[in-house]
Amino acid sequence: MTSSIRPVGPGVALVTGACSGIGRALAEGLAERGHDLVLVSQREGPIGEAAREIAAAHGVRAHAITLDLARPEAAGELYAEVLRRGIEIDVLVNNAGVFFFGEVADADPDRANAMLQLHVVTPSLLCTLFTRGMRARRRGRVLIVSSLSAWRDIPGIAYYGSSKKYLRGFARALRSELSVYGVTVTCLAPGATATALYDPSVVPVDLGKRLGVMMAPRDVARAGLEALFAGEAEHLPGGLTRAMALGAVLVPERVIGLLRRHAPWLRPVGR
Ligand SMILES: NC(=O)c1ccc[n+]([C@@H]2O[C@H](COP(=O)([O-])OP(=O)(O)OC[C@H]3O[C@@H](n4cnc5c(N)ncnc54)[C@H](OP(=O)(O)O)[C@@H]3O)[C@@H](O)[C@H]2O)c1
Repeated sequence: MTSSIRPVGPGVALVTGACSGIGRALAEGLAERGHDLVLVSQREGPIGEAAREIAAAHGVRAHAITLDLARPEAAGELYAEVLRRGIEIDVLVNNAGVFFFGEVADADPDRANAMLQLHVVTPSLLCTLFTRGMRARRRGRVLIVSSLSAWRDIPGIAYYGSSKKYLRGFARALRSELSVYGVTVTCLAPGATATALYDPSVVPVDLGKRLGVMMAPRDVARAGLEALFAGEAEHLPGGLTRAMALGAVLVPERVIGLLRRHAPWLRPVGR
């Protein structure tokens, strides 16, 4: 399908990982604000359904693109596909992500490689490719979804947390580069959120939500979009997330050592 979306009104937003969780809620929030959408994820059925439902509910145009963003060529392919459809992107949301627990020495190398491609390489290159046009037009916004886990290095989530730390630093540097052109960059760092990111047999998501220790994705997205359109540099959504970020920075290293010894997601010491 070839179609052309011109930059009228608030412009077009591209959201990666838009078929579920925080990404879907971000896409809905952007549509509520009148943005046409390009929605990307790797499963054709769910992303097509998300695009149809959001377009019908909010009266915007929504393109669905199916792509595995964990492949090295993904950013270039997505950029080429967006150009081919004649779409100009005004808001870039790098949200797609995956999660796994475990010791670095136990990680499946293919799974670890895919996470690094998805969290580090692809979002960085999407910023390179899409912010060129924003810089030339002197307008645009970028939202990068990092995580509370970027605030402290935690055993058992070394790949995840370190890749999110990269995104936090990348967002800051990119923000400084682009601010002189009128393009804003915002880093959203959610804490625990009740989504399909976690294996429910390991993380009791429903219980977490009921106890109020996991946020609803729409609340995270609402806070993220407010921060994005206010041009904030970094946003931790929710009081508990902000308290945990402070705790993460202040907690002594010996507590991290205790965590390593007793965390249920790590091998018992000595085995
Ligand atoms: N949930 C939390 O507690 C939490 C906390 C902090 C940060 N975050 C971050 O928030 C972001 C969204 O996660 P979520 O919690 O909303 O989880 P989610 O519901 O599982 O959503 C993840 C999204 O990423 C997409 N995705 C995963 N692998 C992909 C790939 N290889 N190619 C293309 N798309 C891919 C998924 O699409 P498919 O289903 O098609 O694969 C899905 O749309 C992630 O970056 C995550 O790290 C989440």
